[in-house]
Amino acid sequence: MGEGKGFGKTILIGEHFVVYGLPGIASGLGNATTANVEKAEKFEFVDNRPEIPGYKEKKKQEIQNQLDSLLKQFKLDKKGNSIKITLTGNLQCSSGVGASAALAVSITRALNQMLEMNLNDEEINKIAYIAEEGGTGKGSVSGIDNTCSTFGGFIWFEKNMQGGPNKIERFSVQKPVEIVLASTGITQETKKIVADVREKKEANEQEFEKIFKEYTKTCQKAFENIKTGDWKTVGEQMDKNQELLKQIGVSCNEIENIIKTAKEAGTWGAKLTGTGRGGYVLLLTPGNELQEKVAKKVEELGYKTLKTEIGAKK
Ligand code: MEV
Repeated sequence: MGEGKGFGKTILIGEHFVVYGLPGIASGLGNATTANVEKAEKFEFVDNRPEIPGYKEKKKQEIQNQLDSLLKQFKLDKKGNSIKITLTGNLQCSSGVGASAALAVSITRALNQMLEMNLNDEEINKIAYIAEEGGTGKGSVSGIDNTCSTFGGFIWFEKNMQGGPNKIERFSVQKPVEIVLASTGITQETKKIVADVREKKEANEQEFEKIFKEYTKTCQKAFENIKTGDWKTVGEQMDKNQELLKQIGVSCNEIENIIKTAKEAGTWGAKLTGTGRGGYVLLLTPGNELQEKVAKKVEELGYKTLKTEIGAKK
């Protein structure tokens, strides 16, 4: 038997930009996926994770590819001498909260325990990245999701564009900060949206160069302000980041609607988080009172919310 946990994640600053080697800031969530594995006659996969309706169906092939990659990496077979994997936990599966990275990390940790392999966190993270990437080896995802899912807490992340180890700086804040994650209810495929952005960039190199410069300043400023606890200014940088995400084409009406309502309710910062064109919107709401108020207004608009914290550590 083996058991393992993978955190959900939220990207505070930097989705899509990190794919091109620019820095990004992300945090593990308090919510996580738990995997239990046990030896079995034949391969069995029981997925009891809570989900946004339709998520698992839409992600069926992607989940299958991840499982295949994990089994291969641990030299396990789907026939004789196989395993049963059961997934549970309080991370609701949806685009934007790192559900697929949490799946990969939790199963990797569980298999590591069952097979007594003594892998360290770096090794766990590497295996989860390969599963996330779908074995294409083409660097279609940056690795920010699995890194957050493995370590939790805050991370400063820079993808190494030469293929070597990514720059990962873990840092902490004095106390976790309240956020609301508002779900658009739309599930998206990360690799497809990343490919769309790449296509747009290749057709508009000069425009993207300007956006990238602006983005880098925003990210640096947010980093300094998170460390000093100036969450008002962090919120402003999140808003700027959202503008830039809009310009690269990854926002949508549902995201903009949620942001408008949350702003009216007093949120300090609002942006899409993760893949975009659906998924979750991240609303910065320090203090329980503001968190409650913003979540209520967004729910009245017809969207589900998750009230949680950033800065939760392993
Ligand atoms: C997805 O959570 C974040 C993206 O930047 C893709 C990636 O970095 O792998 C859109």
